[in-house]
Amino acid sequence: MIELKTPAEIEAMRPAGRFVADVLTALRERAAVGVNLLELDALAAQMIREAGAVSCYVDYAPAFGSGPFGYSLCTSVNDAVLHGKPHDYALKDRDVLTVDFAASLHGWVADSATTVVVGSPNPEGSRLIKASEEALAAGIAAAQPGAKMGDISHAIGEVARSYGLKVNLEFGGHGVGHTMHEDPHVANDGRPGRGVKLQPGLVIAIEPWFMSTTNVLRTDRDGWTLRSVDGSLTAHSEHTVAITPEGPLVLTARD
Ligand code: MF3
Ligand code: CO
Repeated sequence: MIELKTPAEIEAMRPAGRFVADVLTALRERAAVGVNLLELDALAAQMIREAGAVSCYVDYAPAFGSGPFGYSLCTSVNDAVLHGKPHDYALKDRDVLTVDFAASLHGWVADSATTVVVGSPNPEGSRLIKASEEALAAGIAAAQPGAKMGDISHAIGEVARSYGLKVNLEFGGHGVGHTMHEDPHVANDGRPGRGVKLQPGLVIAIEPWFMSTTNVLRTDRDGWTLRSVDGSLTAHSEHTVAITPEGPLVLTARD
């Protein structure tokens, strides 16, 4: 069931969006060669505590993972692209790191992800990051009242194709509200003019993610982390976006 938010409820979601954005900004600043993924998770957990927020991840036990996730943050490095489970790993020069964070504040959730190159330049990593960021921007631009979900999906897919990337349709974006994963699904490719009508009050996470030379995933032995089947590099960008009569409002926008 798709739940539309009132303008007052969208206003009430702003603090959650601002908080999630601030955590990602802090994580982007902290990510450096030698920093452990567990330190990044601890930073996210500490910021949750200080804000009086609630993690969407710690107790989360969906069908696509094995048991409760147990951490506050997804950390996906290089060939890992989604649901990366933090572990004892110190970041290395040129690593491509995705941090994906969702939390609830004052009863409302926001969900956002960003990918960075750690240390020295990594041209292929940067190309994938640019593709995922352009696809996210195109998806947001298509999130207009009166348009259709397929317009967002198609806009994302077109950017992927322009980079020669194939899209995996097993995981995509989703509705966001009092919980993290709500209806409707937001596929990362699709046909314009098709699907759910985008009405004011719809709040969705738009989250393109791409793998360099495959669209096939494999699950790590940890039962959570999803990696490119061929070990190629990956990137993921995500914002929580409210559709308003004036157009898309990015609740998780960073400064
Ligand atoms: N925030 C992720 C998403 O973008 C979901 C992570 S679920 C977890 O939809 F359990 F792995 F944390
Ligand atoms: Co999401």
